[in-house]
Amino acid sequence: MKKQHVKNSRAYCLGVESTADDFSVGVSTFEGEVLANVIDAYVPMEGGIHPREAARHHAEVASTVLEEAFAKSSVRPREVSIIAFSQGPGLGPCLRTGATIARAMAAYLDVPLVGVNHCVAHIEIGKLRSGARDPVTLYVSGGNTIVAAFDSGRYRVFGETLDIALGNCLDVFAREAGLRQKKGVPFGAAVEELAAKGKRLIPLPYTVKGMDMSLSGLLTAATALVKKKECRLEDLCYSLQETAFSMVTEVTERALAHTEKREVLLTGGVAANRRLQSMIKVIADEHGAEFNSVPTEFAVDNGAMIAWTGVLAYTNGLVTPISESYVRSRWRLEEVEIPWIKSEGLS
Ligand code: ATP
Ligand code: FE2
Repeated sequence: MKKQHVKNSRAYCLGVESTADDFSVGVSTFEGEVLANVIDAYVPMEGGIHPREAARHHAEVASTVLEEAFAKSSVRPREVSIIAFSQGPGLGPCLRTGATIARAMAAYLDVPLVGVNHCVAHIEIGKLRSGARDPVTLYVSGGNTIVAAFDSGRYRVFGETLDIALGNCLDVFAREAGLRQKKGVPFGAAVEELAAKGKRLIPLPYTVKGMDMSLSGLLTAATALVKKKECRLEDLCYSLQETAFSMVTEVTERALAHTEKREVLLTGGVAANRRLQSMIKVIADEHGAEFNSVPTEFAVDNGAMIAWTGVLAYTNGLVTPISESYVRSRWRLEEVEIPWIKSEGLS
């Protein structure tokens, strides 16, 4: 029998996020007050993320990040009621590092463990922080490009990328263009800054198939042009953004028209981009829907979103026995039951 901390005065969930390059620990109350959200990002010396190196980073920073989360939240380990962790989707070695830490803590503290779907967590923290109740969500990050909305007990994927994610497309382009990554300045933000100085729209492949998008052809074409050095980098960044953002905006708009939802939620690391925000706001306005963005701290990968979704799951009867706590690197959004949304439009 696990201890019944939740019957006591205040209940807290500690959430561990480790799907990709960020290791993060968040603490949330059962009422949705975020008390701590400590994020430590792994920045590769060069090139993209190497899963095992990122996992090593997570193992190295874990104790410091945990200590900081306890200090910031003023919650003592023994006061934690449940431990939630990002069970998938994500990079295997990174997920396993987070899962091992979460399992060890749950066993040591003798509290329930709750495995959380990373994509569900992005939507739930986005709703919590923005006040949206039943949105069409555009989740765009380094590893995901998904348009989703709740329908009949689950978040349904209305459209997604068929190959690379939008953030990955911007990051690879930036690297190919010779931009240097600075700590704290994502490649996407560097592309955004250059794009703001762009004037000429260079034709690039625009690929929407049904409700899905393909970004790899766009990346290949933009990269080939940057290597030729025939166009201004500012114009290429501008054209890359305009083309890629138009694709995700088109799919989001069609999901909005189909579902007739009254809200749009923009989240994930790429949601920090002001041009993308303005494009999504235009289609929201055109459909009489409310546009909701998520503060960057809660739009990027963060432990608070795992902690809060852990609360939602646990208070609706979901726990993850140790025997079922293996990581699920390809866990799809629509596989997850969402019992905390009792009927459409209410959560
Ligand atoms: P996930 O595991 O959900 O796929 P992730 O590890 O890629 O997430 P995030 O922090 O959510 O992490 O997103 C990072 C992405 O966001 C990177 O591709 C980065 O370049 C991009 N990004 C950050 N700021 C901006 C910006 N201002 N404009 C465009 N892209 C941005
Ligand atoms: Fe994410």
